Amino acid sequence: MIVLKTGRELTLMREACRISAGALKVIEQAIEPGITTGELDRIAEKYILSQGAKPNFKGYHGYPATACISINNEVIHGIPSVTRKINAGDIVSVDLGATINGYHGDNAATFAVGDISAEAKRLIDTTRESLYEGIKMARAGGRTGDIGYAIQSYVEARGFSVVREYVGHGVGTALHESPEVPNFGTPGRGVRLLPGMTLAIEPMINIGKPNVKVMPDGWTVLTCDGSLSAHFEHTIVITPDGPQIMTKL
Ligand code: MF3
Ligand code: CO
Repeated sequence: MIVLKTGRELTLMREACRISAGALKVIEQAIEPGITTGELDRIAEKYILSQGAKPNFKGYHGYPATACISINNEVIHGIPSVTRKINAGDIVSVDLGATINGYHGDNAATFAVGDISAEAKRLIDTTRESLYEGIKMARAGGRTGDIGYAIQSYVEARGFSVVREYVGHGVGTALHESPEVPNFGTPGRGVRLLPGMTLAIEPMINIGKPNVKVMPDGWTVLTCDGSLSAHFEHTIVITPDGPQIMTKL
């Protein structure tokens, strides 16, 4: 079932989205060579709790942390650890969310630490830009396939590939609601988009092949070919006047 949110519900949900965006910002400001992913996780959790919210990934299907922190060839769902140091030259994907008022926010970004290769920079820029291409198509009367097609065509024209096994999703009173929002697709296909829909759009893009595998820890998703991967995500709402990004400060 797809839930359309009323204005009152959106007001409550905006708070969760604002705190989610704030937590991503505090990680961005703290990230530097030598810091561990476990320390970054603690910083984000402290911030979310200080706002009166709760980290919504923690405990989700048994997930043990506030943030997912995925480095280089790790695509998503990397588990923070106080023994895992971030190095200059790494690209670091951070995904997290907060819940308050019974509503959820969800967002992600990939950060460059120190000097990174030109190719890594192009991957990060392309992934961020593809998210905005997808958001542009999140309009009442369109379909989820319009969003997926916009992301996929933007990314593939630049020689990168779209991960298929993980997709965007509805978000609201649950972290994951209907519909699924794939980062690939065909214009005019998929679920019809309506005002009041709140969606997490989240392209995961690889430099090499699209194939991914899960590590023995049961969470961390890696590229099969070892190539770098980037991830950006916003929670948006479809209004009668077009898409509005909710996870923005
Ligand atoms: N990052 C996922 C999303 O954006 C959700 C995280 S699953 C968790 O939809 F278990 F790691 F929390
Ligand atoms: Co999400």
